[in-house]
Amino acid sequence: MPLEIVRNDITKMKVDAIVNAANNSLLGGGGVDGAIHRAAGRELFEECKALGGCETGKAKITCAYALPSKYIIHTVGPIYRYGNHLEKELLESCYRESLLLAKEYSCESVAFPLISTGAYCYPKDLALKIAIDTIAEFLLENEMQVYIVVFDKDSYNIGEKLFRDISQFIDDNYVDEHLVLRRDIEREAMPLPTGAKKNFFGSLFSAATKTPFEQESLETKLSNIDESFSQMLLRKIDEKGMTDAECYKKANIDRKLFSKIRSDVHYKPSKQTAIAFAISLELSLEETEDMLKKAGFALSHSNKFDIIIEYFISRGNYNIFEINEALFAFDQSLLGA
Ligand code: APR
Repeated sequence: MPLEIVRNDITKMKVDAIVNAANNSLLGGGGVDGAIHRAAGRELFEECKALGGCETGKAKITCAYALPSKYIIHTVGPIYRYGNHLEKELLESCYRESLLLAKEYSCESVAFPLISTGAYCYPKDLALKIAIDTIAEFLLENEMQVYIVVFDKDSYNIGEKLFRDISQFIDDNYVDEHLVLRRDIEREAMPLPTGAKKNFFGSLFSAATKTPFEQESLETKLSNIDESFSQMLLRKIDEKGMTDAECYKKANIDRKLFSKIRSDVHYKPSKQTAIAFAISLELSLEETEDMLKKAGFALSHSNKFDIIIEYFISRGNYNIFEINEALFAFDQSLLGA
C-alpha cells in the first residue's frame, strides 16, 4: 500500500531511502540520528561533514554505507515552541523536501521516522497528522511506497480524545463472539415465528419497504445480483463519477494492483482491500456490507477492526489515512494494499 505505518527500527528498513531526523550540523546526535550514524558507520560522518550543515525544514542526501538502504535523506525538523514559530510549516517542509529529493534520486520506497517527536518535543498527535497529510498529498500526484516507522509505541499518539472516543465505541458495540455463538445456537434451537424466515430475496423485499429515494430500485438490485466484486467496484466508480486513479489513490491501493482488479472479473480481494474501496467510494454502512458480501466477507461486532471501520463510516469520515492511524493505534491491520 502506498502509505503504510509500521513498527520497526528504521536502520533495518530495506527501502531505497531512509530519512534521518538530524540537527542543523548533520554531524550526528542522539535518537534516530545516533542510531543511523552508528549503523551506517564512520564514512557517513565524513560525507556529512562535507555537506556543511542543513537548514531546518530542508533536506540533504548521502549514501547509506552499511545500512540496507541505498540513501539516507537528512532533514532537520523544528524544535517545538508552543506552535507559534512556523513549526507546522517547517515540519511539513521536512516531509515534502525529503519526498522531492527521493523522487529526484528515483527512489521507489522511502521510510520516515516521526520527525521532531523526540528531543524536539513536537506533540506526537499533531506531528503524526502533519506527516500523514503531507505524504498523502504527495502521493496524490506521485507513485512511491512510503513507510512511517514507529520505533516505540509511546512515540505514537493519535490524540487522547479520538483514542477515548473509539475505545468507548468499541466497548459499546463489541460483542464477545462466544456469546454470539451461544445465542445463535439457542436461536437455531427455537422454532421461528411463521413468515419471519429471511430468504434469498429477504433483503430485496425489505428494500421494498424503504422510501423510494432510500433504496436502489428493485430492478437494479435484481440486475446486479450476479455481478462480481470487480464489476460492482467499476460500476460504483462510474456511478460516483470518479476516475480510476482517484479511486485507488483514495483507497491507499497501488496502481498495479488496481489494474489487476480491473482486468480480472473474478478477482477476490482481501477484506482490507474491499473495505478500502468502500471507504474510497464513501459508501454507507449498508452499501459497504453489500460490497463486502460480493467478496465473501461481512462486518461483525465481534471484530474490533470492523467496529473501528463502522465508527468512521457512521461519522462520515472517509479519510483512509486517518482511519489507518486509528487502526494502527489499536494494533489492527491497515486499509489498502
Ligand atoms: N528507528 C525509528 N525511529 C526511531 C529510532 C529508530 N531506530 N530511534 C528513535 N526513533 C524515533 C523516536 O521514537 C521519535 O519518535 O524517532 C522519532 C524522532 O525522535 P528523535 O530522534 O529524538 O528526533 P527529533 O525529535 O527530530 O530531534 C532531533 O535529536 O537525535 C537528535 O541529532 C538529533 O539534534 C537532533 C534531535
